Amino acid sequence: MDFSKLKVVKVEKRDGVTTVALNRPEKRNAMSPQLHYEMVDVLKELGEDEETRVLVLTGAGDSWCAGQDIKLFFRDLDDKPKERHRARLANHEWRWTLLSAFPKPTIAMVNGYCFGGAFVQLFACDFAIAADEAQFGLSEVNWGILPGGLVGKVIVDGLSYRDAVWYAMTGEPFDGKKAAEIKLVNKSVPRDQLEDATMELARSLCKKNPQTLRTIKESLRLVRGMSVDQAADYLLAKEREMRFMDTESGRAEAMKQFLDDKSYRPGMGEYRRDDS
Ligand code: ACO
Repeated sequence: MDFSKLKVVKVEKRDGVTTVALNRPEKRNAMSPQLHYEMVDVLKELGEDEETRVLVLTGAGDSWCAGQDIKLFFRDLDDKPKERHRARLANHEWRWTLLSAFPKPTIAMVNGYCFGGAFVQLFACDFAIAADEAQFGLSEVNWGILPGGLVGKVIVDGLSYRDAVWYAMTGEPFDGKKAAEIKLVNKSVPRDQLEDATMELARSLCKKNPQTLRTIKESLRLVRGMSVDQAADYLLAKEREMRFMDTESGRAEAMKQFLDDKSYRPGMGEYRRDDS
């Protein structure tokens, strides 16, 4: 895929970390149908891209994402049912289907505004680091609409019920520090340290066994909806599956380094890998 042809998404690859930026800074990276279509293509391409070990999702300029584009995604499509349906499918496909199941670690690097629909991709990412100065808000109530399109679901699953209801019903904006306090993001740092903090996490993930990361991610995501018995059985099956899928035999290697060579303490960091 020729990323240079993208109009509203920017892709940059460096040392295993691929940064994908929503790229409509003049509209605060609000999500237009075109942005949804481009993101579907980008995530499909990067999922199995060998140069991409970690994906960082950010926004061009001073905004992360100002939610759905009120004009292009809502008003302009109100009387175009076919187009609206197509845009809605793409909107769900990249923000949830593809991103939440992306086969590599994903980090939301929240550099600025994060409103409304943007909460879906925020929760779909495995990690989130925000600028202290970022502004978050479930502003749907101020538009006379529901936090729909999955926002209502991800906030009740991912926040405390009290916080979800508070912010959904008041629409009150809050900053990155508050987002970290309520665990909407893992942490917040001053804006000028955001990229360094994100890349530090990304680089540490690049050093870990990719198959192990992939399986941990899939498993944690799926056991949330299972009973204890189902989860125990599923996790055992995944553990066995991993021994077949892991081309570097991480489990055996870590045991050898710890038990036989006595050369490493995997409890304190990843075992030594050929490519690390
Ligand atoms: N949809 C469409 N256009 C938008 C959106 C949006 N969600 N957000 C910003 N824009 C546009 C503005 O209309 C403006 O366009 P213009 O230059 O052609 O007039 C441009 O982006 C810049 O916006 P400003 O408001 O001038 O920028 P500012 O930095 O002062 O404020 C802010 C940014 C706070 C994000 C403000 O634009 C805003 O409140 N946007 C709406 C955010 C929101 O409520 N999103 C949720 C939508 S509902 C949903 O996602 C389901």
